[in-house]
Amino acid sequence: MSENNLKIQPNKASLIRYATERIVRIAQATLEVNERFSIALAGGSTPGPVYEMLGEEYGHLLDWSRIHLFWGDERCVPPDDAQSNYRLVKDMLLRHVEIPDTNLHRMRGEDKPEEAAAAYAAELQAFFQGEDELFDLMLLGMGDDGHTASLFPGTAAVHEQQRWVIAHYVEAVDMWRLTLTPPAILKSSNIMFLIAGEKKAKPLYEVLHGTYQPLLYPSQVIARQDHEHVVWVLDEAAAANVQ
Ligand code: 6PG
Repeated sequence: MSENNLKIQPNKASLIRYATERIVRIAQATLEVNERFSIALAGGSTPGPVYEMLGEEYGHLLDWSRIHLFWGDERCVPPDDAQSNYRLVKDMLLRHVEIPDTNLHRMRGEDKPEEAAAAYAAELQAFFQGEDELFDLMLLGMGDDGHTASLFPGTAAVHEQQRWVIAHYVEAVDMWRLTLTPPAILKSSNIMFLIAGEKKAKPLYEVLHGTYQPLLYPSQVIARQDHEHVVWVLDEAAAANVQ
């Protein structure tokens, strides 16, 4: 974990702007050499303002007909449900940009969880057929308990090494979730964590420097790999114990 992977911003507002501009830079660089750009989106409260800024202030800089949106995890609810990660992106980003429906690869939270997970894995196989890696960019958050995507403490999903997508009931949030697994996440060309707030300082220290115990701090399964393109976009509050 090299220090230069930590991108520490003074506050949440500057974290949002930095993250948005980094997404744009990676998208533009990718589209200079590739026909398409694929990004897997996170849920939660931190990325929402990034999606809004991306669409409202930077959307005109990108060719959205060549950009494909995926999700890192989803709640097993209908797409118009307030808890839906798809709805978060629809409300914050999609109202600002013209993107073909065929470029929206949402996890179908309204379907039976196991069927939705299998369908999404098939969609990933079809879309990335013949490619060594999956997403050009993966956005992730980290919960106060150290979870990321819907890889929660104490769940078998943390140690999944075969499947790319699984459905599981998560007791901590009393709901079924769909989530990409560590192998799928680590097949991203670039990974960017967005973490803000003082409550994240302790778990982030454990994730980056504590004893390796991913069942307790699931984000460790991503943090402790030698993936050369993992970047941690933090505000000073979240970075208090790691800078
Ligand atoms: C979700 C997210 C989840 C989120 C973390 C951090 O579906 O809830 O994918 O993993 O990234 O809970 O959320 P905050 O950004 O709100 O801290």
